[in-house]
Amino acid sequence: MKRIGVLTSGGDSPGMNAAIRAVVRKAIYHDIEVYGIYYGYSGLITGQIEKLEIGSVGDIIHRGGTILYTARCEEFRTEAGQAKAIEQLNKFGIEGLVVIGGDGSFRGAEKLTEHGFPTIGVPGTIDNDIPGTDFTIGFDTALNTVIKAIDQIRDTATSHERTYVIEVMGRNAGDLALWSGLADGAETIIIPEVEYDMNDVVKRLRRGHERGKKHSIIIVAEGVGSGIDFAKKIQDTTQLETRVTVLGHIQRGGSPTGFDRVLASRLGAKAVDLLLNGVAGQMVGMESNVIVAHPIAEALAKEHEIDLEMYQLSQELSI
Ligand code: F6P
Repeated sequence: MKRIGVLTSGGDSPGMNAAIRAVVRKAIYHDIEVYGIYYGYSGLITGQIEKLEIGSVGDIIHRGGTILYTARCEEFRTEAGQAKAIEQLNKFGIEGLVVIGGDGSFRGAEKLTEHGFPTIGVPGTIDNDIPGTDFTIGFDTALNTVIKAIDQIRDTATSHERTYVIEVMGRNAGDLALWSGLADGAETIIIPEVEYDMNDVVKRLRRGHERGKKHSIIIVAEGVGSGIDFAKKIQDTTQLETRVTVLGHIQRGGSPTGFDRVLASRLGAKAVDLLLNGVAGQMVGMESNVIVAHPIAEALAKEHEIDLEMYQLSQELSI
């Protein structure tokens, strides 16, 4: 293999740039040329492809977003779109591809592999919902962004003795809600993986209120439903003054944490190693601090699992 491509796809996540840098530098270190594909699969179909040099990825390790831009591409879901993409890859003489993104991007990578084009997936999403890795690139940064926001909300919640409902991202996964809830000592964490009982939520709130708690924080994962609706229900049932904050896309930006930069560097480099060793259709990940690889198809077939012990712990610590 003499020339590989790299793209970012789906929702961006902090650390994607560090992963791009690792792919480019690791490949060039091994005398392999790297082409950057802009706007994800969409740019792959339309041929928005340029050669990247060592300097192309200088000064980006600390930046959020992705220098290759990203997109969600409907056309690539079709056979015709996939054929156009492969045509472009052949036209540019690209022999292997690294796809940095979440599960939707991995589905695309799997399609390319099925068509005989060697592709490796690097998990980059704030949702932390990809089986086969303990952490996805960007989760730690998003978690810290949420924690900082909740710390600030807690100040004003205490001053006004209010209940706050905070809606966090995660699509169908509750990791961001669970981890930030545990890190912030939230009274209640509502996630799609665990059924909740409104009576229990209200009971916990009242108990806290009665023992003189100055504020209450409830974290709702977006996968459960609207935080705004949830806050209304709480206020109507408890008569406690309730406010709601939907953190939204603020969670997707910002300079990546040290953890995400290191994870991205390790995973990006491993993806290149795999391609150079003739491996295709695998995703890289980190399990128990060891860099591993699994078939993408296997990861896509598995259900994302939440750490139920951690959920139980959050319940026990927020009595
Ligand atoms: O997958 C990352 C993510 O931020 C999810 O948490 C969220 O549900 C979704 O993307 C939002 O997508 P968009 O930016 O396209 O609205």
